Amino acid sequence: MGKEKEGFCVVGVLVLFLFLGSSVTSDDRQKRWRKAMVSGETMASSMLINRVPSSIVLPLHGNVYPNGYYNVTLNIGQPSKPYFLDVDTGSDLTWLQCDAPCVQCLEAPHPYYRPSNNLVACTDPICQSLQSNGDHRCENPGQCDYEVAYADGGSSFGVLVRDTFNLNFTSEKRHSPLLALGCGYDQFPGGSHHPIDGVLGLGKGKSSIVSQLSSLGLVRNVIGHCLSGHGGGFLFFGDDLYDPSRVAWTPMSPDVKHYSPGLAELSFDGKTTGFKNLLTTFDSGASYTYLNSQAYQGLISLLKKELSGKPLKEALNDRTLPLCWKGRKPFKSIRDVKKYFKTFALSFKNERKSKTELEFPPEAYLIISSKGNACLGILNGTEVGLNDLNVIGDISMQDRVVIYDNEKERIGWAPGNCNRLPKSKSFIIRSE
Ligand SMILES: *[C@@H]1O[C@H](CO)[C@@H](O)[C@H](O)[C@H]1NC(C)=O
Ligand SMILES: *[C@@H]1O[C@H](CO)[C@@H](O)[C@H](O)[C@H]1NC(C)=O
Ligand SMILES: *[C@@H]1O[C@H](CO)[C@@H](O)[C@H](O)[C@H]1NC(C)=O
Repeated sequence: MGKEKEGFCVVGVLVLFLFLGSSVTSDDRQKRWRKAMVSGETMASSMLINRVPSSIVLPLHGNVYPNGYYNVTLNIGQPSKPYFLDVDTGSDLTWLQCDAPCVQCLEAPHPYYRPSNNLVACTDPICQSLQSNGDHRCENPGQCDYEVAYADGGSSFGVLVRDTFNLNFTSEKRHSPLLALGCGYDQFPGGSHHPIDGVLGLGKGKSSIVSQLSSLGLVRNVIGHCLSGHGGGFLFFGDDLYDPSRVAWTPMSPDVKHYSPGLAELSFDGKTTGFKNLLTTFDSGASYTYLNSQAYQGLISLLKKELSGKPLKEALNDRTLPLCWKGRKPFKSIRDVKKYFKTFALSFKNERKSKTELEFPPEAYLIISSKGNACLGILNGTEVGLNDLNVIGDISMQDRVVIYDNEKERIGWAPGNCNRLPKSKSFIIRSE
């Protein structure tokens, strides 16, 4: 209700900056861990020997508009405390604002996390995986300093610790593995900042929570999410909640650090547009979708052409997003405007050299602003420094299951009901 965003510069992109070519660690910014900490036991207490197929399902809260992000509640520590985390498939590391003590922490919904005395050593493979290049020197072998910088200008600086994550599995078992997380004691707010306890990093790197759970044998290294167009939805880890034969799969590009189905071709209303070789990634940390300047320009021209002679006019005084259209009277929902807008698609080459299409119906690219206008949720990526990278954000992933399968190195999507939590195997994607 009523909390309006201050123009379009506040939209969020949590793509890790590393991807755009800058470095994550800088020796001159190394800070000493203030508190003497004893390095502890690194084995998880609940290591499973046999791989029981099981999943973890976590409810999501939030929406594309007006919130602009989705959060998940995780219970961390002993005794465990709840934390609200931003869900980000665009970065690896999970971190909490941390009283270590805090040098600069930002407003948070809960008291800052207080780490137990369990530092991750600099030589630990998880620490190594966070460094951008091989020549990382351990200034202080007993600790692992990290810095993550996000595409919106935000950053977190801190030290890696291990702590208990209290997790419920679909097998109705509970496990409390020790997982590495960042204790962030120096945060800088980015353009899309909102009060949050930390970030849940779900990228494909070793430090990602799901990689860690999978190396402990607790779940398969597979992440899925289902973001509801009504707000909320769920997140899952593991591969036993869906029927893979009902998912449209495309290989995950190994050359890109983030979840990328490789190069895409843009079609509009079933026809080719000439925009191809679009390097694309999926990023749940981005509220909107970003196309590079040319494709963005091209798409806008096509949409505008379709609108000529229709009762929709550009709403120049609506600053919710760069491009909004108004009707004769305010729109209440996308249903009111759907008929004026076409579906476009990105198609990716799959293993069989045929194409897998990701369709963008109007619901996947329009929002209705608080002023009752239809605004385009596709933005100019070149303008926010993404260069040629095209980012598929939350708006375009709503009301479908998107699966990042790191075991089989593929990305998939399928229609899904995101309004109900899945309870059992193959619940998510059922036949009609
Ligand atoms: C995050 O989700 C919780 C519910 O789990 C909700 O109560 C809370 O308001 C959300 N926090 C933020 C910062 O959006
Ligand atoms: C796990 O399930 C138990 C029993 O249903 C519940 O009380 C608890 O809050 C759940 N814990 C988490 C971390 O969701
Ligand atoms: C996109 O942004 C770039 C960089 O700011 C700008 O040069 C270009 O004109 C923009 N494209 C469109 C279609 O607005």
